[in-house]
Amino acid sequence: MSRIKILMIVVSGLFMMIGIITMISAGAEAAPLNEDSVPAFYQDIIQVENPDSLSVLVNKNYSLPEDYEPDDLVFLEVPLYNNDKNNEANYLRKEAADALKELFTAAKKEGYELIARSGYRSYATQASLYERYVEQDGVEAADTYSARPGHSEHQTGLTIDITSDTVHGGLTELFGETEEGKWVAENAYRFGFIVRYPQDRTAETGYQYEPWHLRYVGVQAATEIYQDQLILEDYVLSVMNRTSFLWD
Ligand code: DAL
Ligand code: ZN
Repeated sequence: MSRIKILMIVVSGLFMMIGIITMISAGAEAAPLNEDSVPAFYQDIIQVENPDSLSVLVNKNYSLPEDYEPDDLVFLEVPLYNNDKNNEANYLRKEAADALKELFTAAKKEGYELIARSGYRSYATQASLYERYVEQDGVEAADTYSARPGHSEHQTGLTIDITSDTVHGGLTELFGETEEGKWVAENAYRFGFIVRYPQDRTAETGYQYEPWHLRYVGVQAATEIYQDQLILEDYVLSVMNRTSFLWD
């Protein structure tokens, strides 16, 4: 075979490889969900098989088993709204609790005092909370700010509601406008947390803007979610795309 022919075969092989790599990476891109692709809430509910995973998706379509309780909950070592060892809300899974301590320490170095208000919540607690909100405001309104039992991320032990004295310890949208809230929004990912229900994605999350509700997903996932301005739903979908070759 002439040298030219060999060269042509090598070059076309290279082009084919580049094409394949381009196709794979295009499919891997994390495309944000849009309103048309949002599934109907609380229909076709799927119970998650990975409740212990740091990236477990819990929302209005993915639920936790009723009896799921993390086995590594630890008492939080940060300023607490209600400092009581008997209050389950003062507990998180160990990795999230350690990361929260680092986040609070870093905030304090910048002059921002944060307060942890509500972390782990059992299925039973969420059931009575949700029932109370429904009695108070009706189902439609309650569904915009409270998860139905089995559908709250608080049951994962990876989620914490935080606040500050500047909003009198309240869980309010105003927290997002405080210096503390702004710092948290810009820096939480460095410690593995995301602001789970952002202002511009309420249609897809199904929840009002909650600048106080942080979800621990680990630093790598949180960084990608923060930098690409994703919600956890986008991220989980993109990881599934990227790894689909494993089960195709
Ligand atoms: N407030 C959030 C949505 C919850 O109830 O888990
Ligand atoms: Zn919350």
